[in-house]
Amino acid sequence: MASLRSVLAAAISRGCRLAVTTQSGSLSNSSKSLLVQQVRPKSSLAGREYLQQIPRIVSAVPACHQTAKVIFDDNKTAEFKYIWLRDNCKCPLCVDVDTRQKLLDTPALDPKIKPKALQINDRGDLVITWQSHGGEEHVSTFTNDWLYRYGQCFMHDTFTAPATLEEDGAWPRPPLTLWNRYIIQKRLPEVEYQEFIESDDALFEWLDMFYKFGFAMLRNVPTDPDQLKEVVGRFAYIKETQYGVTWSVRINPTPGVHLFQTGLGLQLHTDMNYRENSPGMQLLHCLKAEHPDKLGRDPGGQSFFVDGFRVAKWMEDNEPSAYHILTSTPILFSIKNKGQRYGNMVPIIVTDSEGDVTEIHYNNRTMGPLQAPDHVVVPFYHAYKLFSERMRQESQQLTFHLQPGDVVAFNNRRVMHGRGSYDPNKVERHLRGCYVDIDEAFSKYDQMLSQRPPLL
Ligand code: OGA
Ligand code: ZN
Ligand code: ZN
Repeated sequence: MASLRSVLAAAISRGCRLAVTTQSGSLSNSSKSLLVQQVRPKSSLAGREYLQQIPRIVSAVPACHQTAKVIFDDNKTAEFKYIWLRDNCKCPLCVDVDTRQKLLDTPALDPKIKPKALQINDRGDLVITWQSHGGEEHVSTFTNDWLYRYGQCFMHDTFTAPATLEEDGAWPRPPLTLWNRYIIQKRLPEVEYQEFIESDDALFEWLDMFYKFGFAMLRNVPTDPDQLKEVVGRFAYIKETQYGVTWSVRINPTPGVHLFQTGLGLQLHTDMNYRENSPGMQLLHCLKAEHPDKLGRDPGGQSFFVDGFRVAKWMEDNEPSAYHILTSTPILFSIKNKGQRYGNMVPIIVTDSEGDVTEIHYNNRTMGPLQAPDHVVVPFYHAYKLFSERMRQESQQLTFHLQPGDVVAFNNRRVMHGRGSYDPNKVERHLRGCYVDIDEAFSKYDQMLSQRPPLL
């Protein structure tokens, strides 16, 4: 009778191989697209899994910041730093076979060590071939159970999208369009108000723009101070806040209430980061403003918008350590209005467990004193400056003068907005604003997507 061991070995060897290999031998960001990922069929290691009760490795992929992401079939992901993996190599060159004591000289390791290839062998082990720089190639092999046990401190639940809409026959949401000044100006996301009200296709087009760009405009909206209710009623309802159902942005003769009620410029920002959950969607409706052409000079008060997701992506690609600081340092945002205080701690760039940027919280006016370990303080100021300087570059900004009848809607957790200063004694400017729970807008978008194919 065949031994259990040989039966298992045969079962294991039927499993298909390989998670990820590189063609070029380098795992730099730019070569990530060359990587191939294969997922083994669930049944292949059933015997071994049954005995060990240890989740199998589904795939291993290089991630940013010198990390291999190992995904297990219980939906957990562990992020192993390359240097940690190299230091824990179990091969006979690195660990003495008899005493199990370490031969590898840890301080001699290159902190920037990178693998040439990540693979999963027939046994379901992770096999790492390290870049050799002309010397002999070094190969480390880690079993799934060892990685699972020692990876606990690097582990998190893999983000899985809520039950996909595809199950209801709906189209999945299209990818986001990250934009700068030139990309968004090529075709400004805008729809005529009358069409938006009368036609579901026009509403769908507008929601589609709002989803992809985090920014969409309506033109020729009646300048009734209450018109936002009708605008929002087309796809959702207004989210009331401490500022009311809708609120005015204009000069307030009583000084000391709020900076937005003065003629001062407002640097790029997102609103209400001091609330536990800042509103996801903001609409501003222009009721009164001057046009530079009519006035023959710049009336000031121009609007600025910047795609925060794109600026964050630029930071991740070009300034990874600064990016890391902004994603990992919670900031206290707070405000006191009429004796009532609100406060919330959140990083400037929020990422999910996949490392994707999900939210931006940026407002210099309401940012409290940094509370972080002392070694983080100077790097934080450096990172904050880099992020701010990048978003203030003209090439990143969509800039224009809002005109009466314009409504601008933007994702307040993605797109930063600001305005230039103006002289309230010389020009009249009045906006009406409101917030909406963004998932209400996206829910309507999903519903419409289930009835028609996505727009290209
Ligand atoms: C604000 C604001 C924009 C504007 O009040 O927070 O960003 O154009 N206003 O006045
Ligand atoms: Zn070794
Ligand atoms: Zn604002």
